[in-house]
Amino acid sequence: WGPYGHAIVADIAQSRLTPQAAQGVAALLAQEGHQSLDEVASWPDTIGHLPRSAGGAPETLSWHYVDIDVAEQAYDRARDCPGDACVVEKLPQMEAVLADAHAPAEKRLEALKWVVHLVGDIHQPLHAAQRAEDKGGNTVRLTYYGDDANGHMNLHSLWDSGVIDREAGLVVGRHYSIDFAAARKEAKVLDAAITPDEAAYWASDVTPGGERRAAIDWADESHGLARSLVYGALPANKGADLGDAYSAMAWPVVQIRLEQAGVRLAAVLNQSFGPSP
Ligand code: ADE
Ligand code: ZN
Ligand code: ZN
Repeated sequence: WGPYGHAIVADIAQSRLTPQAAQGVAALLAQEGHQSLDEVASWPDTIGHLPRSAGGAPETLSWHYVDIDVAEQAYDRARDCPGDACVVEKLPQMEAVLADAHAPAEKRLEALKWVVHLVGDIHQPLHAAQRAEDKGGNTVRLTYYGDDANGHMNLHSLWDSGVIDREAGLVVGRHYSIDFAAARKEAKVLDAAITPDEAAYWASDVTPGGERRAAIDWADESHGLARSLVYGALPANKGADLGDAYSAMAWPVVQIRLEQAGVRLAAVLNQSFGPSP
């Protein structure tokens, strides 16, 4: 997701934390003067493209996604996650560091930032799918309501941010700066649409020791949505202009994936900071 998607997931989760988890999260964030999860939700996107010499971590670029071909049925670790450097394996690794009360506080803060970010990314359909080596749609050029974002619009960026920003009227400033108040307002709208039954069902795969299985399930859900809808509804012509028809399909999918990610992130954090099982 782009900066608004990650902030919205963080905001939905923040409002669903137990008092114990809210306190644990606040204590970790306070190390860097942060007050809420949305402030750190996009941090992993700021380090991947920087060289090591500038404090960057280029080896983390692949941690944000898993390329499962749409011709396949489901995630396969050996085939889809070389070196275990994909989101499905990194997310449970980071959850383990976060839940380890004996790990150094700065390590746990870094793990918290990764968990907030990766629970978001694993729910973006194109972060768990690709077709014909298109890198999750990054090489599929198109326009959206006639806009090519100065040549930067593609199928991946449309799903990361194009649809949310347009449908929710969110504006990205320079250097990816966002309006946090606008993100919180949109998160409230989405949060209010989640029924208690949905929340309980979505969070039911968050169990002690079930972290890896849950990550696989969430990636497989994303992959299924990419097969049936993201690519399934895509016009065959190259460089197509997508508008009302595609957006009317995509926006409900984006909304439910942000809602599910928020609910599940809260469940993960409540478990991490909860009484040990
Ligand atoms: N680069 C290669 N595959 C990708 C994907 N599925 N999502 C984001 N970036 C990628
Ligand atoms: Zn992306
Ligand atoms: Zn990311």
